[in-house]
Amino acid sequence: MVAVRGVERQGQPHARLSCGLPFGRHWASLRCPFDADKGGRGPGGVGAPGGGRCPPDTFADAVSGLGRVLDVGCGPGTVTAYLAERGLDVSGVDLSPHMIENACRLHPQCRFGVAPATDLVLGEASFGGVLGWWSLFHLPRDVLPQVLSLFAGALKPGGHFITGTHVGDEDAARTEAYGGVPVRWTTYKWRPEQLVDLIEQAGLRPVAELRLPAEEYSGPSVVVMARRPD
Ligand SMILES: C[S@@+](CC[C@H](N)C(=O)[O-])C[C@H]1O[C@@H](n2cnc3c(N)ncnc32)[C@H](O)[C@@H]1O
Repeated sequence: MVAVRGVERQGQPHARLSCGLPFGRHWASLRCPFDADKGGRGPGGVGAPGGGRCPPDTFADAVSGLGRVLDVGCGPGTVTAYLAERGLDVSGVDLSPHMIENACRLHPQCRFGVAPATDLVLGEASFGGVLGWWSLFHLPRDVLPQVLSLFAGALKPGGHFITGTHVGDEDAARTEAYGGVPVRWTTYKWRPEQLVDLIEQAGLRPVAELRLPAEEYSGPSVVVMARRPD
């Protein structure tokens, strides 16, 4: 596993890709699979500042040729469509019919469906990749381990899972997000080491971790990618 720690303390400037993924110049100088290349493009087609690499690109490379990919909690389908553009056989599911309506309208070339993460029926070893991209923080603490186990079982040996989530200890009741939009949900924050433990307990082997600094509208966050052992 390659762990990248201490980023929050560095306090270096960073930029935001149009996909909403914070991506800083500092990634380009860290030893991690997520910056193993130059000239990565983030979802939305924006070049990464500093010539670094976007985690979805690294994920796409890791699962390329492994078959179907599922984007769980895909929202409006930005990342789903980005991965499809990269040649992956990817589909997206989301709890919200409204999100899926938007995803279908914005990306008619992609497959989307309405489904809660907790109700998915996934065949054993049937996916090359699964994403829980900024969506799993909605799951209550006792539910996340079951969902991670479901994902782990659904991955083929050598398949990869990637997630990004908010860092912290609290269950934050949100009434506002995205710089002032009224919302109502709970964000279940995790400490990176807790999240990594849960992923390991589900049977996956973490292969990369990025800790992202707080931004204008959100606190620190973490991205973890893990592999199902052969
Ligand atoms: C912050 S958005 C992220 C959307 C997308 N992954 C992205 O990065 O653009 C979180 C999404 O998770 C979805 N979501 C929340 N709870 C879910 C659940 N239990 N099952 C499936 N999707 C869920 C929400 O409807 C929302 O679209």
